[in-house]
Amino acid sequence: MKYKYLGKTGVQVSELCFGTMSFGSNADKDNSRAMYKQVRDAGVNFFDCANVYQKGVAEEYLGEFIKGERDDLVIASKGFFPMTDKPNDRGASRKNLTASLNSSLKRLQTDYIDIYFIHGFDKNTPIEETLRVLQDFVSQGKILYIGVSNFAAWQVSKAMSIAEFKNLTPIHCIQPMYNLTKRQAEVEILPMAKEENLGVMTYSPLGAGLLTGKYGPGKAPLSGRLVDNSMYTTRYGGDFYYRVAGEFTRIAEKRGIHPASLAVAWAASHPVVTTPIIGAGNPEQLLPSLKSVDIVVDNELKAEIDKISPPPPPSTDRTEEQTKFNYGAMLQK
Ligand SMILES: NC(=O)c1ccc[n+]([C@@H]2O[C@H](COP(=O)([O-])OP(=O)(O)OC[C@H]3O[C@@H](n4cnc5c(N)ncnc54)[C@H](OP(=O)(O)O)[C@@H]3O)[C@@H](O)[C@H]2O)c1
Repeated sequence: MKYKYLGKTGVQVSELCFGTMSFGSNADKDNSRAMYKQVRDAGVNFFDCANVYQKGVAEEYLGEFIKGERDDLVIASKGFFPMTDKPNDRGASRKNLTASLNSSLKRLQTDYIDIYFIHGFDKNTPIEETLRVLQDFVSQGKILYIGVSNFAAWQVSKAMSIAEFKNLTPIHCIQPMYNLTKRQAEVEILPMAKEENLGVMTYSPLGAGLLTGKYGPGKAPLSGRLVDNSMYTTRYGGDFYYRVAGEFTRIAEKRGIHPASLAVAWAASHPVVTTPIIGAGNPEQLLPSLKSVDIVVDNELKAEIDKISPPPPPSTDRTEEQTKFNYGAMLQK
């Protein structure tokens, strides 16, 4: 396992982050503990969690497992999504984030969280209110760095500008969705992250199970997130996803690679990605994702994969500027 600096922080994280969303869901406690040990043995020092994962259960499990080695680890958790039906138990307000962080710290049985994420953009709370309470958490030593997840590029940039002008703690890390069937981040989010030198943890490298070989046109397992969970059947619904899954499986198998290994390696191969966040329901599922670190995704393989799910169009319509035979390229030099 290699280690990389997380954006412009001086913190080194493993080239794979382990996501704990399955803890208490498709992974029972024994499988969760076994996967924790498996990734630690492989050299992973970076863990992603959120208060909302099984309404605190994932944080409780993680808190139990990390005992005795807390300071060797880089732990991320999040607040924002509703934990109950109560009106203030949600959002990025000072009130909710204060309560959420204190509860997360208790469940994780730790004094601090390394990276605290706002899990989504809150259009009802002024960004400055959110940034000021995050600044207070940093001053209190309860969090070390700030991250945002599921933000558009302009939302990150706006928050970063406000933080800079008001002399508040900057955003160090983003967490967008990114896999072969979800390449939107390539248009604005990843170029913005490169420009700002942000740490980039990308989630759902397997398309929540789509790119593991078990899905294809007319092919699906009897159970699994894309079959059982309506949010995910919507996110990955439609012929495009199943066609890409089938063709991707063929490309991987032709090379003797497990599709899950190739899918994670593909996400990791984007030069701006610091670390994909891998996830699984049990140690057997997890193994191919861990093995992704041995796979080189060279330009030839990239081009073959691009044919089945091409990169999205650029963020401006000046398509000619993407070629090298024009003044656009000269300007970019
Ligand atoms: N910030 C956010 O909003 C956000 C959102 C989502 C996730 N995340 C983070 O990212 C982490 C990873 O996300 P993800 O779970 O969506 O990642 P993923 O790697 O795309 O999907 C993982 C799922 O794929 C299936 N799978 C994994 N390996 C397999 C194998 N070898 N064979 C067959 N099926 C396999 C399992 O689901 P089934 O067995 O059910 O098919 C597993 O739970 C999460 O734990 C969380 O920390 C963050």
